[in-house]
Amino acid sequence: MSNIVLGVSGSVAAYRACDLARDFMRAGHTVRVCLTDAASNFVQPALFEALTGQPCLTDTFEEPVAGRMAHIDWARAADLIVVAPATANTINKIANGVGDDMLTTILLASTAPILIAPAMNPSMYNHPETQASLKKLSNRGVQIVEPTEGEVACGENGQGKLANNAHILRESLEFLSQSKLLEGKTILITSGPTQEPIDTVRYISNRSSGKMGFAMARAARLLGAQVILVSGPTDLLTPPDIQLVPVVTATQMLIEAQKHAVKADWIIGLAAVADYSVAQPSNTKLRRSSEDIQITLTPNPDIIGTLAKEFPDKKVIAFAAEPSADTEYAAEKMRRKSVSAITLNDISRSDIGFGSDENELTLITADGKTYESGKQSKLACSLWLLKILAET
Ligand SMILES: Cc1cc2nc3c(=O)[nH]c(=O)nc-3n(C[C@H](O)[C@H](O)[C@H](O)COP(=O)(O)O)c2cc1C
Repeated sequence: MSNIVLGVSGSVAAYRACDLARDFMRAGHTVRVCLTDAASNFVQPALFEALTGQPCLTDTFEEPVAGRMAHIDWARAADLIVVAPATANTINKIANGVGDDMLTTILLASTAPILIAPAMNPSMYNHPETQASLKKLSNRGVQIVEPTEGEVACGENGQGKLANNAHILRESLEFLSQSKLLEGKTILITSGPTQEPIDTVRYISNRSSGKMGFAMARAARLLGAQVILVSGPTDLLTPPDIQLVPVVTATQMLIEAQKHAVKADWIIGLAAVADYSVAQPSNTKLRRSSEDIQITLTPNPDIIGTLAKEFPDKKVIAFAAEPSADTEYAAEKMRRKSVSAITLNDISRSDIGFGSDENELTLITADGKTYESGKQSKLACSLWLLKILAET
């Protein structure tokens, strides 16, 4: 039995939330409803209280339990938050981190998975701001149940009708069970570039943005895992509920990864580790001169290979950023490093990989099976990969 918060915003389709609340209850879950002010013009809290046997909130300062902040209590207790129907206004607010009513405040305060079922006039749905918000939310791991096409309440035809309740229920329950797929597992992810100092102000690095590693961390958390993210320097915001271990050099990354690998069930090596470091970095800033200078580079440790050898009982997944989609070199690398699986991404393509928000992966497992993700957002690629790994 899970705790579901059902958020209802100010759409004509608000009446459909009454049945939806009962559907969730019939599926064995506890449902607590939160209405926006606009929604309470269509449906009353008393109706939901009678249907669910739970208090229904509209005002941010309501306290069903005296002395307890309801928005925090509800946010913490939620296993899933479903916003159905979701208006254009509420979608745009959630995407931009606004918390100016009870529903959006609960959403801001919660780390639970979120599912949104939009319902609105087709022009509102196709508005560039609404579409940008939906894309932003989807990239953040929010599940969107797309509205269907047809005649909407105002008489216009197009996409905007709230998806049918059976569809919202099915998607919600699948999303809920997916959020428990990796429950109890700890996943260690190495991510981002490393920086190898030349002197006190200069370093050798690479073009890795860290986006793939951060997306993998978010995906693993969405699937219920505890996540430790050992990351080289990036400008990215740490996803909620992730333990970030910042490092700079390859050697630091190996030390931290070894330390945290002890408690991990899976290790995913996504970092673009510099192959070489400067043998003797200068401890002052090197001065400009007209002479050539020579810098001796020394090989860095093979982080994922070392971890695979030291922790042979753990699932270790390597990533190979290759200049082509040729899987042979990646398969050879998988055998050489003795990892459980390797994922290849073709960095010669400008539309995916380094810095991009999308990727296309080929997964090769130790038993010789090959899987293709197709081009998707880095978060969707990560969810795809983790679900296959959970089954193999
Ligand atoms: C009769 C009526 C029906 C409406 N239906 C919708 C709708 O289906 N979808 C939507 O996005 N907005 C709809 N609106 C506009 C919203 O209620 C309005 O933008 C409101 O500010 C949304 O507030 P909320 O997001 O806090 O619920 C409707 C307004 C009225 C008066």
